[in-house]
Amino acid sequence: MIGESSLNVPSTLNALLLFILTAFAFAVAAADSNIIKTLPGYPGTLPFKLETGYISLGENGERQLFYYFVESERDPNRDPLLFWITGGLGCSGLSALVYEIGPLAFDFSTFNGSLPDLVLSPYSWTKIASIIFIDAPVGTGFSYINTSQVYTSSDTKSTSDYHLFLRKWLLNHRSFIKNRLYVGGDSYGGKVVPMVALEIIKGNEAGFQPKIALNGYLTGNSPIDAEQHINERIRYAHRMALISDEYYERAKSSCNGDYLNVDPNNYECLHVLQLIEECTNEINDEHILVPKCTLPPPKSDDFTERRMIIENDPIDVLLMSKQEDTYWCLVKSSLNNHVTSYAWANDPSVQEALYVRKGMIKDDWKICNESLLYEDDVENVVAHHQLLLHKGYEALVYSGDRDMVVPYTSTVKWTRSLNITTEDEWRPWTVDGQVAGYTEKYKKNDKASLTFATVKARKIHDLLSYSSVIHAGTMFRHGEEMVVFVPTVEKST
Ligand SMILES: *[C@@H]1O[C@H](CO)[C@@H](O)[C@H](O)[C@H]1NC(C)=O
Ligand SMILES: *[C@@H]1O[C@H](CO)[C@@H](O)[C@H](O)[C@H]1NC(C)=O
Ligand SMILES: *[C@@H]1O[C@H](CO)[C@@H](O)[C@H](O)[C@H]1NC(C)=O
Ligand SMILES: *[C@@H]1O[C@H](CO)[C@@H](O)[C@H](O)[C@H]1NC(C)=O
Repeated sequence: MIGESSLNVPSTLNALLLFILTAFAFAVAAADSNIIKTLPGYPGTLPFKLETGYISLGENGERQLFYYFVESERDPNRDPLLFWITGGLGCSGLSALVYEIGPLAFDFSTFNGSLPDLVLSPYSWTKIASIIFIDAPVGTGFSYINTSQVYTSSDTKSTSDYHLFLRKWLLNHRSFIKNRLYVGGDSYGGKVVPMVALEIIKGNEAGFQPKIALNGYLTGNSPIDAEQHINERIRYAHRMALISDEYYERAKSSCNGDYLNVDPNNYECLHVLQLIEECTNEINDEHILVPKCTLPPPKSDDFTERRMIIENDPIDVLLMSKQEDTYWCLVKSSLNNHVTSYAWANDPSVQEALYVRKGMIKDDWKICNESLLYEDDVENVVAHHQLLLHKGYEALVYSGDRDMVVPYTSTVKWTRSLNITTEDEWRPWTVDGQVAGYTEKYKKNDKASLTFATVKARKIHDLLSYSSVIHAGTMFRHGEEMVVFVPTVEKST
C-alpha cells in the first residue's frame, strides 16, 4: 500500500498547495497568536516564553488548529525547533506540555479539585529546544472546525495538515525558519512522524516556501502498524516475568507466533492465550511497575469501562474517591490520572489566559478525544523510515522499557527489519554515572543513522507521569551527546 509512488504528493495537489502557500504569504499579518506572560495557577510571570495561537487550514480556513509554542530557555536563535505530535490518538498538545516534555507541571500535593497549581518542570525539553505543541487532528484539544460538516481525519489527511500547519507557522515566525527542525512524537503520534517528515521533504523538493530545515525525527514507543506491537506483548510479558516459560513456549508453538489472528478451531492456542490473559489483565499496561487504579463504584470488571469513567468524568471521580487508597491512587499519584488537566483547562480564566476563542469547542475540553473520526489509512510505516534513512536523515527511536502498550521488543524488531548495519552495539547509556537505559546505533550510509534507546523502567507511553518525564528529559539532554537530537554536522538543507 505504501509504495514509493504513494509517498509522492500528487502534482495537482502540489499546484494547489503552492497557490495556497503563495496566497498565504501575503496574509501572514492576519496570524492569530498571543504571547502569554501569566497563567492561572502559576504565581508570578512565566520564566519562559509561551505563545498560543491558531493556524487555519482548508479551502475556507475552516480547520482551526490551536497550538502552544514554548521558546527554548537556552538559545532560541541556535537551538533546534521541535514540532511535537502528541500521541493518542487525539490527545491534546497540553497533555504533552504538562505531563510529558514541557516546562510546566501540575502540583499534585496541593490539588483538591479546584484550580490546580502549576510548578516548573526541571526536566523540560524546552531547556534545549523550542517546541511547538499542536492540538491535532481537528477535534483535539482546542482545535475545531467552524462548519457544521462532519470531519473525518486519517493518517494521510492529518499528515498533510501537519505539514501545511508547519509551513504557515514558519511564515508567521520567520526568525525560526533557519533553525534545525525535528519532528517528534510518542505512541500513535510517532506512527505519523515519519510520514510528516517525508511530506516536509516532498514539499521542500517541490519548492514550497519557506524551505524547512528538517534535520531528523524522533519517535517514542510508537507502533509501525496496527498489529505488530500487540502481537509482541506476549514475548514482552515473558521477558518481564509476567508469564511462565511454559505458557510462552506453548503459545509460541501452538499459535505459530500469531496471537491476533487465531484460527477459532485452534483450541490449544486459544487456551494458552486465555491463561496469559489471566496473568496480565490486572497489570497496568502503560507501566507494568505502577499500580493499576480501579474505582470501587461502579463495580465493573471491564477496565476500559472504568478508565472511560476516569477520563470522562474526572471531577466526579475525585469526589467519589473518598476511600483513602483509591484517593491516593487516582488523585495523589500523578501516574494514574489527569484530573488536574480537566480542572485546569476547563476553567474559564485559563481559557481566557490562553486566548482560546470563546464558544468554539462544543463540549468540555478533554485531554484526549476518544470520539474522533479517524481512519488509519496507512497500513505500515516501515517504508517511510527506510526512505528517510536513505535520504540521509537522523532518527532517534526510543522506548520506555516498562511499557507493555507498545513494548520495546516491538521497536527493536522493526528497527532491525530495516536491514541497516549496526554501527554501535547494544550498550548502556548513562546519566550522572547511572545506567539510564540501553542503546544501539545503526548506520545506513555516511549521513544517515538511527539510534535506538531504551529508557530504563520508565513509562514513555502517552499520558505519562512526572517520573517518566524525568528520564525522557534526561535522555533528551543526553541525546546531544548521542549525536542524535543535535547533530554535530549540520545538514545542508
Ligand atoms: C471559518 O474561519 C475562517 C477563517 O477564520 C473564516 O474566514 C470563515 O468565515 C469561518 N467560517 C464560518 C462559517 O464561520
Ligand atoms: C481547595 O483549595 C483552595 C485553595 O487553598 C480553596 O480556596 C478551596 O476552597 C479548596 N476547595 C475545596 C473543594 O476544598
Ligand atoms: C471530538 O471529536 C468529535 C469528532 O470530530 C467532535 O464532534 C467533538 O466535538 C470532539 N470533542 C471535543 C471534546 O472536542
Ligand atoms: C530485509 O532483509 C530481509 C532478508 O534479506 C528481507 O526479507 C526483508 O524484506 C528486508 N526488509 C526490508 C524492510 O527491506
